[in-house]
This record gives sequence, C-alpha cells and structure tokens, in this order.
Amino acid sequence: MSKITIDTDTSRATPNPRPGKRMTVPKIRSMKRGPGIAQEPLVMLTAYTTRTAQLLDPHCDMLLVGDSLGNVIYGLDSTVPVTLDMMIAHGAAVVRGSWHAQVTVDMPFGSYEESPQQAYRSAARILKETGASAVKLEGGEAMAETIHFLTNRGIPVIGHVGLTPQAINVLGGYRARGRDDAEADKIKRDAKAVDEAGAFAIVLEGVMEEIASEITRSVSAPTIGIGASKDCDGQVLVTEDMLGLFERTPRFVKVYHNLADQISAAVEEYANEVRSNSFPTDEQTYRPKG
Ligand code: KIV
Repeated sequence: MSKITIDTDTSRATPNPRPGKRMTVPKIRSMKRGPGIAQEPLVMLTAYTTRTAQLLDPHCDMLLVGDSLGNVIYGLDSTVPVTLDMMIAHGAAVVRGSWHAQVTVDMPFGSYEESPQQAYRSAARILKETGASAVKLEGGEAMAETIHFLTNRGIPVIGHVGLTPQAINVLGGYRARGRDDAEADKIKRDAKAVDEAGAFAIVLEGVMEEIASEITRSVSAPTIGIGASKDCDGQVLVTEDMLGLFERTPRFVKVYHNLADQISAAVEEYANEVRSNSFPTDEQTYRPKG
C-alpha cells in the first residue's frame, strides 16, 4: 500500500513507494537532437496547480510553472507584477501534483536582474520551498553572467530569448521577433551567450523559423520553441491556450479541445437545474441511514 507523507518544511507530498523516477536536468540536457540522432522532441507544458499537474504529468517530459500565471489565472495585463511568493506557492503545488516530469519555475520580473547574488537568493528560495529542480529566466547576453553564476552553484537554469514578455515595457508589444537583420542577429547572439553560460535548455519564443533553425543547430542545449516552428528540440505551450481556456488565442497555438465551451455548457445546465428545482435530487441528499 502506498503512503503519502508531507515534508513540513516544503509542504511537498512524498509518496512511498515512489511512483517512478522523475526526469532529471541531465536527462533533459541529453535529449538534444542532432544529425543522425534519433531523438523525439521534448514535450513541455505550463502548469500552475496540483490537479492540472497531475493530469499533465504522465504525458510531459517537463512542466513549467510559468509567470504567465499572472495573465492566465490572476487576470493581470502583463507578467511584470508577478511576485516571487506567487511563483513559489504555485511551484510547490505543481511539484506536489507531479512525479514524473522535470519541474522548472519561472523567476519573476525583479527577482534576478539586479545581480547574480540577487538571482541566487531568489532561485535558492524557489528550489528549497517548491522542490522544483530548475529555474527559468528571461534575457540573453545581459543575463549570461547570472546564468553562469547560478549553474556553477547548483541551480540549473533554462534561458529564454526572442520574445521576452517581462520586457513588455521596453518592447512595446508581443509581436514575433527577428523580422529584420539587426533583431535576428541579436536573438542569435543572445541564444549563444545563454548556451555558453551553461543553460541546460533554451526557450525560444515568438521567433522566425529560420532563426529558430539556425540557433537549434548551433547551440549545445536543447531549444524549446513556443511560436518558434517545429525546428526546435522541443515544444512548450501555455496549457490554458491549448485547451481553449484563455480569451485570446495567439496564432502559434493549436486549440486541442475547447474546454471553455464545455465549462459554459455544464454551468448553464447546473444553473437551469437549480432554478427549476431539479438539482439536487435524492441521489445527492443526505438522510439518516436506516
Ligand atoms: O511564462 C510562461 O508560461 C513562459 C512560456 C510561455 C514559455 O515563459
């Protein structure tokens, strides 16, 4: 019989026996594709809650507790207001709901950009308080020193280049990046810098296919694309987007099921039954046994 105990420091559930071995950072790192290497693309999705993590976990190599939770579940306009405490609360929930996938937690805006030391303190809190095995941070050349600092001190990092939503106030919008040569060259330099700094994977967001192809061929870390073509070593989507649960669907998203319609239909049926007194029935009613 399996038993669950709660680690009171991290509030992480630890099942005994363990249901299986969790994907590790070195394993993910080794899943880089290349000429003559038959390697399936990496599968990553975002997760913010325990129940969603439980449902995604058997199918994914990696779960990302993205700061997109600011938009998706907190209704914020951008990811800028997301805090470290929010990321830690959701990160711990996702680790509690997953046994197989490698879990990475996004470092929120303002928690790492100031210095490698600031980044280390924030990332160490994330790893200690959630049980996740890695962090992700946005930025290329400007963040290389920080990525090097963290990875050399036991904190695995995923880089994130191309469209970097935390820089919305500098970028002015969420359009795809790399349409002109100068921007394309900058994204390539960013990916190279992050790779050389020791990132174990690199998210490429919203970039032209040729840029994604060239970067994927030239860096040693697996690239994980979101709106970056199939030429990456893996793919990530925001789960609520691919389930049709978010109001706006970006062009690069495929909606696999429209759960918004299913939720609306279920709630309409419930409301009608309550108003017509046909819910609850005897089946949902407690009565003395006997
Ligand atoms: O925050 C997030 O969900 C992300 C993905 C879009 C890669 O960074």
